[in-house]
Amino acid sequence: MNKRQIMEKIYWLGAVDWDRRLFDSLIPLPDGTTYNAYLVEGSEKTALLDTVDPSMSDELMAQLDGFPRIDFIVSHHAEQDHSGAIPRVLKRFPEAKVVATPKAKGMLMDLLKIPDSAFVTVQDGETLSLGDKTLKFIYTPWVHWPETMVTYLQENKSLFSCDFFGSHIATTDLFVTDQGRVHEAAKRYFAEIMMPFRSAIEKNMSNLKGYDIQMIAPSHGQIYDRPAWIMDAYRDWVTGPPHNVVVLPFVSMHGSTRQLVDHLTSALVGHGVRVELFNLTVTDIGKLAMALVDAATVVVGAPTVLGGPHPLAAYATLLANALRPKAKFLSIIGSYGWGGKTVETLAGMIPNLKVEVLEPVLCKGLPSETDFKALDRLAGKIAQKHKDNDFK
Ligand code: FEO
Repeated sequence: MNKRQIMEKIYWLGAVDWDRRLFDSLIPLPDGTTYNAYLVEGSEKTALLDTVDPSMSDELMAQLDGFPRIDFIVSHHAEQDHSGAIPRVLKRFPEAKVVATPKAKGMLMDLLKIPDSAFVTVQDGETLSLGDKTLKFIYTPWVHWPETMVTYLQENKSLFSCDFFGSHIATTDLFVTDQGRVHEAAKRYFAEIMMPFRSAIEKNMSNLKGYDIQMIAPSHGQIYDRPAWIMDAYRDWVTGPPHNVVVLPFVSMHGSTRQLVDHLTSALVGHGVRVELFNLTVTDIGKLAMALVDAATVVVGAPTVLGGPHPLAAYATLLANALRPKAKFLSIIGSYGWGGKTVETLAGMIPNLKVEVLEPVLCKGLPSETDFKALDRLAGKIAQKHKDNDFK
């Protein structure tokens, strides 16, 4: 892909990765992704904001062919999908200085072996003049690592946000064209890598309040030329109350746990609670992460196998613990053959979750009428808890 002009003297550079299906060997990317870099040409100096994943650095280097000089390479984030091509850019433009937070500098030196002499570090709120354009650096830790910052281009009222507000979508559209699609992709992205850092993100959002932001240019996905909606969406995901939703990841080996899941689902729906089921043998784990953004309650459906929870249920529970959703209640349902420690094992896997654990329902083999009645009680309790908390 060739470079593309966004505004006068501001260009999109980068690469569209149509084929990538997994990030960090963990996060599903059903729609691929982009690695966006931006080039800002001031009247006196030129700055490159971020680079691309090393696997696609040839594209970036070709796009830089027409530019005789780069004075600054702004590194918002040390992760390789944005910083991995910095060594190659520095080789072509040895006069360039890498602009980063002190923390990012240390990480880039460790991760990419960029020498100390290549850096200029900046403080929160510091500005850098390119002549007729001014870059202002705003620290935004934990979007998505502790060293991250964003750049506000003052004259153009534009925010270059790196991972913050990003979405994994491979597309040739430079700006958001399908808000619904981007909303889903951005929510998936938030759920998978930013949800655990909600309090830091709340602070970052608050720090951005004083800026007139007319465009957000993230380093993944499309550019927001009407950014209000994505900032509103982030506010809801970060600080909004949980919704009247139960997320129910489950696995069933011989159908008994499935019967429990189906009965509980019907009972909850009867109480006016929305339920999202995820059969862990077929589910896209990113969809589960997305559902966790809003859910008030998580119920794990886990049969007992080899004396403990089914490994797929254990994986979903560990993932929920790592993502730290804002759910307030949790329960466990499942069947067993002769015994085991499913409840104790799963309960021990969620130290990060600030949840009230509601009475689990475990049955021996196929569920009996007594088990179904216990599920009815659990559904009633969940619905009442949601009502008491005014979750909508
Ligand atoms: Fe897109 Fe945290 O890297």
